[in-house]
Amino acid sequence: MPNETKLMDAAIKAMGQAYAPYSQFAVGAAILDDTGSIHVGVNVENAAYPVGNCAEASAIAAMVMASGSRIAMIAVAGGDGNLLCTPCGACRQRIREFGATDTPVLVGGPNGLQRRFTLGELLPESFGPENLAD
Ligand code: THU
Repeated sequence: MPNETKLMDAAIKAMGQAYAPYSQFAVGAAILDDTGSIHVGVNVENAAYPVGNCAEASAIAAMVMASGSRIAMIAVAGGDGNLLCTPCGACRQRIREFGATDTPVLVGGPNGLQRRFTLGELLPESFGPENLAD
């Protein structure tokens, strides 16, 4: 699917901009929003380690800044293509805020797509904005 390839390519390209001097583990994320725009982000580490940001969080911030409101699909690229760079638990919840159970989450590395998940597979029975709606 060309959309998938385009999004994963954007995530891979973003990896080159990662600021990861402590882990040396570059991650890039690319979000396709519901208007067709793509927003990218990278991990931004910090000398005070827990203060660092994941790539997914950066991409979400870029989407919000550009007035995007829904994640139609997200691609995450990290590592050397061996193990899967699946979003961390906190980022699954971050994606949940703007996504849905069937939102595709593409996981890949420098050589391209490795696995496709849905957000529901990665974060089953999740808590989200609807829980707070009256
Ligand atoms: N990291 C991400 O940016 N996204 C993920 O999905 C997994 C981990 C970052 C956080 C940290 O900067 C580095 O990868 C190593 O954990």
